[in-house]
Amino acid sequence: MISCHQDIAADSCFAVGFSTGFADPFQSASWVYRELFWKTGLLGQLLYLEAETVGVRATGIGCFFDDAVHRLLGLDGLAWQSLYHFTVGGPVEDRRVRSLPPYAHLRRSGEERPDSAMIKRVRANRTRA
Ligand SMILES: Cc1cc2nc3c(=O)[nH]c(=O)nc-3n(C[C@H](O)[C@H](O)[C@H](O)COP(=O)(O)O)c2cc1C
Repeated sequence: MISCHQDIAADSCFAVGFSTGFADPFQSASWVYRELFWKTGLLGQLLYLEAETVGVRATGIGCFFDDAVHRLLGLDGLAWQSLYHFTVGGPVEDRRVRSLPPYAHLRRSGEERPDSAMIKRVRANRTRA
């Protein structure tokens, strides 16, 4: 529910929220606000990579109900805020989304370009895996 009712959070192996001390740092330096998002983003990127390494998948969750999170954790006021969430689990392929090999658009002339035949092959390989 907290992740805007998204199934990817409810049906995952686990979902986490990154919370941070919030109000105090801004008293002297407003740029800390941006830096806190960089830091949570960095943690998220680590989770993306670690998940792939162990054969599962991950998704950053930017849509969540922060007030509900704070109530759940018993956090009052602005001293602590949840800035970013993350979910890790087994993937469910969305067949509506077209996938191509990485950097397919950078292939040199003469090399195979992504076309419908390549897309079919990629899809067939995925089904076999
Ligand atoms: C900061 C951030 C927030 C995101 N929030 C959500 C989210 O709430 N729900 C969701 O399904 N995906 C979310 N995603 C995942 C993106 O929708 C997308 O799947 C991911 O960035 C990979 O996109 P790409 O394959 O086009 O590179 C988020 C990603 C990031 C980096």
